[in-house]
Amino acid sequence: MPQSVTTDDLIRRRDRAFGAGARLFYDRPLHLVRGEGAYVFDVDGRRYVDMYNNVPCVGHAHPRVVEAMARQQATLNTHNRYLHEGAIALAERLTALQGVTECVVFSCSGTEAVENALRMARIATGARGIVCTDATYHGSNAWVGGLTRVGEAGPVDRDARAIAFPQTLRPITPGLTGEALTDAYLDRLDDAIDDLKASGSGFAAFIVCSILANEGLPDIPPGFMPRATQRVHAAGGLMIADEVQAGYGRTGQWWGYDAVGFRPDIVVTGKPMGAGLPLGATAASRAVVEGFRAETRYFNTFASSPLQAAVGMAVLDVIEQEGLVANVARVGAALKGALLNRRGRWDAIIDLRGVGLFLGIELVDATGEPDAALAFAIVCGLRDKGFLVSNAGIFNNVVKIRPPLVFSMADADAFLAAWDGVVAERRG
Ligand SMILES: Cc1ncc(COP(=O)(O)O)c(C=O)c1O
Repeated sequence: MPQSVTTDDLIRRRDRAFGAGARLFYDRPLHLVRGEGAYVFDVDGRRYVDMYNNVPCVGHAHPRVVEAMARQQATLNTHNRYLHEGAIALAERLTALQGVTECVVFSCSGTEAVENALRMARIATGARGIVCTDATYHGSNAWVGGLTRVGEAGPVDRDARAIAFPQTLRPITPGLTGEALTDAYLDRLDDAIDDLKASGSGFAAFIVCSILANEGLPDIPPGFMPRATQRVHAAGGLMIADEVQAGYGRTGQWWGYDAVGFRPDIVVTGKPMGAGLPLGATAASRAVVEGFRAETRYFNTFASSPLQAAVGMAVLDVIEQEGLVANVARVGAALKGALLNRRGRWDAIIDLRGVGLFLGIELVDATGEPDAALAFAIVCGLRDKGFLVSNAGIFNNVVKIRPPLVFSMADADAFLAAWDGVVAERRG
């Protein structure tokens, strides 16, 4: 049976089973059946270089992770009302790696870990007000989903305020650069905090993805993050670093907050932690976490389990033993350098940014307007050549490159050849 028939049938079955409206990537959806390392394979056996997925951070189907998962499940898996060393050891290891936290609350998704962070901040400060950025995404449940993407979602939590996300490409006040631009964004933060205080909500926390991943990975005006942290503390609030995308070596350093130079009070981690097994964490000082535990009696059946712990430890083992953070720094810098060399050769690239193995290539049309159609065409063209990327950013015009941490220099070279081919086809 020709593959196209099989794919169409599966799409129809999917719509019937899931209800129509569950999004698929690409103009022609990809039917994947297997993954290994930085590669995934479709139903016809075609290999694609995965340059999108941050969850299988140590590579798809890493044998060490698979073995840990199988061994633990075959030995013991219970909820966390029993003593078990696994999750304790994982918490100890995580806080040691973070360097800014003492205790951990495990959970089963980034959304849940963010929600726990917000609750921790409210309990610690006795205030309700939360500041976030206006084009972010921190999760999908009613509260977190309603809190974020404020500009897009319309009415939200009355205790939330969204500020313009800091960026140099399209500055909030045209013409401003450097410190003056940083000051302009910091003023927005102050205004939001003042507004929350005046409204009676008070100010509990500023939550921010350390590298503004969902905002499109903009270059952040100099010193914004450390200075924002000072302002937040001066106003009596806590700084929450959402490291769901930025953490676990993605930037070529362990944590995004190290890459952009601030020390958060609460650190949220998720996606790569379990390499596919649902695992999230919210870490903070002992006082903040114990205040949360006392007030909420938080429990999740599947969190802090021996299975989560075994897999979480295996992921950390692989990252350390295979030197993946250094790999990210090395390959990421080389890839960015090679792409920067190409920037001047194609007017459509207005910006190229990012750090480590998380890069964004922003595309515009001949009039300089954001070109989402071009970004999508590039994404689909690369897929046809066997490379999986995506498009992102507030205008959907940023080609987003975010491979598993095992992505190699050879993969980068192959991608650059494919990129050149797709660009040549677009330019005719
Ligand atoms: C920065 C950030 N925080 C939190 C989340 C939510 O994570 P999850 O989908 O595991 O709930 C996401 C998901 O994309 C994210 O990008």
